[in-house]
Amino acid sequence: MSMMKNMVQWFDDRYPLTKVWNEHLAQYYAPKNFNFWYFMGSLGMLVLVNQILTGVWLAMMYKPDAELAFGSVEYIMRDVDWGWLIRYLHSTGASAFFIVIYLHMYRGLIYGSYRKPRELLWIIGVIIYVLMMATAFMGYLLPWGQMSYWGAQVIINLFSAVPVVGEELGVWIRGDYVVSDATLNRFFALHFLLPFLLAAIVFVHIVALHKVGSNNPDGIEIKKGPKGNKWSDTAPADGIPFHPYYSVKDIAGVAGFLFLFAAVVFFAPEMGGYFIEHPNFEPANPLKTPEHIAPVWYFTPFYAILRAVPSMAGSAFPGVLAMGASIVLFFFLPWLDRSPVKSIRYKGLIVKSAIGIFVVVFIVLGWLGTQPATELLTFLAQVCTFLYFAFFLLMPIYSKMDKTKPVPERVTK
Ligand code: HEM
Repeated sequence: MSMMKNMVQWFDDRYPLTKVWNEHLAQYYAPKNFNFWYFMGSLGMLVLVNQILTGVWLAMMYKPDAELAFGSVEYIMRDVDWGWLIRYLHSTGASAFFIVIYLHMYRGLIYGSYRKPRELLWIIGVIIYVLMMATAFMGYLLPWGQMSYWGAQVIINLFSAVPVVGEELGVWIRGDYVVSDATLNRFFALHFLLPFLLAAIVFVHIVALHKVGSNNPDGIEIKKGPKGNKWSDTAPADGIPFHPYYSVKDIAGVAGFLFLFAAVVFFAPEMGGYFIEHPNFEPANPLKTPEHIAPVWYFTPFYAILRAVPSMAGSAFPGVLAMGASIVLFFFLPWLDRSPVKSIRYKGLIVKSAIGIFVVVFIVLGWLGTQPATELLTFLAQVCTFLYFAFFLLMPIYSKMDKTKPVPERVTK
């Protein structure tokens, strides 16, 4: 015991080991009423680590060459010991990452976690989300299957719709006039790099979180409430030490998550074509366009918005603009919401209905993005696109009109 103490002291004299441990874990006081939704942040970190580890191992056997890429993935699946597991952990992990982060963002939405003083924390989160999309998009090209190839072709062509510089921009991204070996090579390099950048930004996200402290399901600022609990006289009365209370709770979340994750990895890794699309079991063929091109499920809400907006003078630019705007709007959420209360628990019927409709619209758009664009479905996508934008753009009005309930002084449950 004293040897251990001496060792810690040795480090403390050279590095703020105990100081950081206390400030961010043992004496970091988080609201005592965290619920299910508060598991998602730590699960996001877990999945990010899974992606980096399995990704590095895949890269040991993968070949970023248009002639060899597809074959090298088949080699990993069939010949490399446990290669199939590493690959499925990575491909399922990508979808799990988006599921966890969509739930994480939803929590922010319902509890108003983006409101003052957490605007910057939210903005850093949206930057993470955009980076995640870029990383996943580049990763999907790597197996060099039909959908990898044609999906990338369609999405990169969108950049060509930008007026004036579009054509040049497309060539600059691809490194060629069509998606080719040059594209594959650079996407591999960037797909390897971005997750490390993500990890760095997640660190910044946590630094921002610990500066302002967590929000909670009641949307009450515990730092502003009464002081003193059984651990400290100066800590917020409604706070409990993160360690051991939430470190242990998070482990329970991890166990539940791994149970579901393993079930998918072992029994349904393709998830009926949603996690790995069927055409991707065929090698990329630049001469044969698949009948129906659709991105992976986590992009489809935005893809549906893109297709819903009609082209102008033969240019898809208005759709591209709408798709970009549908993502950029998330950055402005902290200033669009004018409600006097943060949490949905104390909001009125108007905001509750708006959030409910938004969730349904987002899911319907996601489904529409996976379907061929018939006349009827395009009309439905247009209605949903309208509602999607209305949710954000009318928020300053309806969040003010909403009849809220009084917020209690102390956190409840
Ligand atoms: C790699 C992705 C991400 C990771 C690993 C991550 C991690 C975390 C962690 C560990 C927490 C504290 C625990 C919790 O509240 O769940 C947190 C809180 C938070 N995150 Fe993230 N996050 C990610 C992405 C995002 C995104 C995309 C957004 C929003 C667009 C976001 C917004 C927030 C907000 C607002 C909080 C504070 C929530 C509250 O206190 O109620 N995060 N994040």
